[in-house]
Amino acid sequence: MTMNYNFMNIAHRGASGYCPENTMAAFKYAIELGIKNLECDVRLTNDNHVVVIHDSTVNRTTDGSGQVINHNLNQIKQLDTGSWFDKEFAGERIPTLEEVLSFLDLNINLVVEIKDGENSPQLIDRVIKIITDRKLIDRVRISSFSLKVLRQVKKSNIKFITSALFEELDLAKDLNSIKSSGINIISPHFSIIDRDLVNKVHALGYPVIAWGLKQANEKVMKFLVMCEVDGMTTNYPDILERVYLKSKKND
Ligand code: G3P
Ligand code: MG
Repeated sequence: MTMNYNFMNIAHRGASGYCPENTMAAFKYAIELGIKNLECDVRLTNDNHVVVIHDSTVNRTTDGSGQVINHNLNQIKQLDTGSWFDKEFAGERIPTLEEVLSFLDLNINLVVEIKDGENSPQLIDRVIKIITDRKLIDRVRISSFSLKVLRQVKKSNIKFITSALFEELDLAKDLNSIKSSGINIISPHFSIIDRDLVNKVHALGYPVIAWGLKQANEKVMKFLVMCEVDGMTTNYPDILERVYLKSKKND
């Protein structure tokens, strides 16, 4: 078989197995590990800033409490988002999307996952504007669990690459809405992926990127690589890289 070096090894919330998720520390460490693709989650503050955080509240990953949307940017920036993970990271701040984009060099691509975009259409508009103002459309992909959100992104700027996340996938049932949404990539949860699904999705013309594997489980990583997925988000991108290269060498 031909070697595929286009495999997308994506550092999930940065190298979040080693650093607090969605922080500059996690993004920097992923790059230090030689990883070329980062993933982050974005939400809106109550003064319309786009901030990089997974949950709808700040409770789990900061020393504060309450909904992200009930904070303004100044309040968000007071929060410590490192100590919950390890005191070594005390003082890490929640980054804005602009801060993450400013830090990307030419070799690095970013997946921006829009959280709760259906209830927050301003977030979609802000994300699109921030990326287009910086002329980074070619290096940033938009992902979401909501085809409605991705449809909205496509409407605004046809050039964005979009990726739909699926917890479950019934191709027969979902195909029409997938096609009409104009998405470019199908991202199923790793637990529903097998060779047959990958073949079927490939036959429809879409790459497959697995998500949801949070553990450093080399066996599952190897299985997914052998299923010919086109990429994977992982908290341990260094381990995935090793597994991928080893599997391909043995092909
Ligand atoms: O890579 C996709 C993944 O980020 C989706 O799940 O909950 O980690 O944002 P979640
Ligand atoms: Mg995400």
